[in-house]
Amino acid sequence: MKEKLQAIQEEALKKISESGDLDKLYEIKVDILGKKGKLTEVLKGMKDVAPEDRPKIGQMVNDTRKEIEDKMEEMKTKLQDKVLEEKMKNEVIDVTLPANKNKIGHKHPNTLALEELERIFTGMGYEVVEGPEIEFDYYNFEALNIPENHPAKDEQDTFYIDRNIVLRTQTSSVQARVMENTQPPIRIISPGRVFRSDAVDATHSPSFHQVEGLAIDKNINFADLKGTLADFAKELFGEDTQIKFRPHHFPFTEPSAEMDVSCFKCGGKGCRFCKGEGWIEILGCGMVHPNVLKMSGIDPEKYQGFAFGVGLERIALLKYEIDDMRLLYENDDRFLKQF
Ligand code: DAH
Repeated sequence: MKEKLQAIQEEALKKISESGDLDKLYEIKVDILGKKGKLTEVLKGMKDVAPEDRPKIGQMVNDTRKEIEDKMEEMKTKLQDKVLEEKMKNEVIDVTLPANKNKIGHKHPNTLALEELERIFTGMGYEVVEGPEIEFDYYNFEALNIPENHPAKDEQDTFYIDRNIVLRTQTSSVQARVMENTQPPIRIISPGRVFRSDAVDATHSPSFHQVEGLAIDKNINFADLKGTLADFAKELFGEDTQIKFRPHHFPFTEPSAEMDVSCFKCGGKGCRFCKGEGWIEILGCGMVHPNVLKMSGIDPEKYQGFAFGVGLERIALLKYEIDDMRLLYENDDRFLKQF
């Protein structure tokens, strides 16, 4: 029995010292100390040992087991340290390598143009309000004095959700909403997205942005409109900017006009940028029609006002000298990075 134990111990210690990795060590443990292991087999043979010898033999088995277990534990710690060391070696961080660059976002030209417009008008005491993009036919057309048979109401131009609800075609829809809820004086601008059933090209998109303006008070006249929009144009395009009004027709204003600014590239002489005109059209405007005031509950005998509507993309394209509107919607990083 003694020799047997000695042989097992010798074999075990040898195998342990040669094990080399944790898996192998575990295999050795099972082979010797496991349920069917060699040392366990010896214990099972105890029943054949004479009763008086049993304590002594028992002690010997325990000593052998302890010896093997200690050796195993020692080897296990060694091997674990080795694994850890290897792992650390592989995960070394080279602080001299160049870092991954973080891409920092920046503002879209539309946003830059909008912030500029908001800065100019809030500086003149205007408040910024927003209205819904899905709008009742009433606010988009009827309350703006646009008659039932007006061409703008054609399905060719307007996206209808049902007979009474449209995707708004203009931010002018916010005018009536504000007038219904607010007693004059009113000074608001209302930026937002509008929709028209247009095909995409360099100057058209089925969805674009406008900024509406509305001022209602006592004794407001066309000179106030001109003064306000002249200040706006100078702030936006430079102190030397001239403005020019051309008569136009909008159902919700009377009289109505389109406003041009002198070309800020050539100063009005005519160049490629203004297509030789010297002038660039930038907005529609006019004195709010008495019918529009009346429908929204404002007495046209007491109050007057002016309104205007600017295409935001148009301002962004002009200000940043971009020649194709589609670039604003493609989200090409190489383009957007330039602003
Ligand atoms: N809503 C007009 C359009 O989409 C722009 C406009 C013109 C707005 C004259 C106004 C205005 O407020 O007075 O073409």
